[in-house]
Amino acid sequence: MTDNHGWQRVCRLEDLTPGGAVEFTLAGKAAHPDALALRGFVLLHNGRPRAYVNQCPHLGIELNWMPGRFLDADHCFIQCSTHGALFLPDSGECIAGPCQGDALTPLDLAERPDGLFVRFPE
Ligand code: FES
Repeated sequence: MTDNHGWQRVCRLEDLTPGGAVEFTLAGKAAHPDALALRGFVLLHNGRPRAYVNQCPHLGIELNWMPGRFLDADHCFIQCSTHGALFLPDSGECIAGPCQGDALTPLDLAERPDGLFVRFPE
């Protein structure tokens, strides 16, 4: 469910734990009517929330194989579980792996008193 400006509530800030992420389905964002809806995730990095579409730029598949787990072992980078591409949590830029130089799709993110909201950038 989105508001008139496309924002959808995904969680509360306090739901985000170090090393963890909250996943969600992006309302109304399937590639075509028969396709599965796109998913997204939000995580904390250096104390700030960041949100991206859960889609690796290499093959267009979801990044994680375990619910809520997107970071590498050191919690420094977002890591694709299929071929190991590494992404900067701040920008989504891929800095190693088969899609090096490409980037995750960032989502607009807003912190409001009633939670964290995301939407596709306009
Ligand atoms: S599918 Fe993500 S690195 Fe290949």
